[in-house]
Amino acid sequence: MEPAPPSTARAWSAGGRDLPRHVAIIMDGNGRWASRRALPREMGHREGVKSMREIIRESGRLGIEALTLYAFSTENWSRPRDEVGALMSLMLDCFRGEIDELNRVGVRVRVIGDVSGLPDAHRAEIASATARTARNTGLKLNLALNYGGRDELVRAARSLARDCAAGIISPGDIDEPALAARLDTAGLPDVDLLLRTSGESRLSNFLPFQSAYAELVIVDALWPDFTIDEYHKALDEYFKRDRRFGGRNHPARPG
Ligand code: FPP
Repeated sequence: MEPAPPSTARAWSAGGRDLPRHVAIIMDGNGRWASRRALPREMGHREGVKSMREIIRESGRLGIEALTLYAFSTENWSRPRDEVGALMSLMLDCFRGEIDELNRVGVRVRVIGDVSGLPDAHRAEIASATARTARNTGLKLNLALNYGGRDELVRAARSLARDCAAGIISPGDIDEPALAARLDTAGLPDVDLLLRTSGESRLSNFLPFQSAYAELVIVDALWPDFTIDEYHKALDEYFKRDRRFGGRNHPARPG
């Protein structure tokens, strides 16, 4: 039997299968990548940015509609000061160094999370990146920064409650689409594929509402080692899944 062709960017294609419309990734394992090399954790995060770049580019190339990356959670503030500082400066470097290229290839950048909790310089870069890329029609890239799923739900509930108190809506108007429209991901499709690297199988407060029907794929590779080839394998795993959305014989998206 002929050996299977190498699963490389060139060899692999979705082959007529339905790509996930929305891929969300918990990029885990930067710290372990660094400590296995006796390097400071910051180096793991720096290496992780390279994987981010590759996966963003490949998602756009494949024609995936939306990609959401968990880059800094509301819980990450409890890490040692030095590490938080390193992540914050990496965040600024990313906005300053990557947006031109993302804009050039048509990526629309958005941030989800409580941006009001970020330093002024970060907020200015986020506002500029969002405005510059707003009309792009390629990949919808969502960076989760100071993001927590429960925090997002609380903010959405407050916003609905404010409109109820002001008489703009009544409690009976609050249904799933109304709540979804108040989330940071308003207007995006539900998550189809939720991917986590480094072998951990936790949701870690990432997109709990949006991932209600997501297929979970856990890969062993640490995030800095997560290559395009690994991404294709995760997509192959997704294609094998039989998505029923809670029904039995009629796969269909709810709603
Ligand atoms: C988890 O690795 C990774 C993160 C804290 C978030 C992902 C961060 C990057 C890809 C770097 C770019 C960051 C920004 C903010 C632009 P970990 O430290 O939890 O790894 P471990 O579980 O091995 O310790």
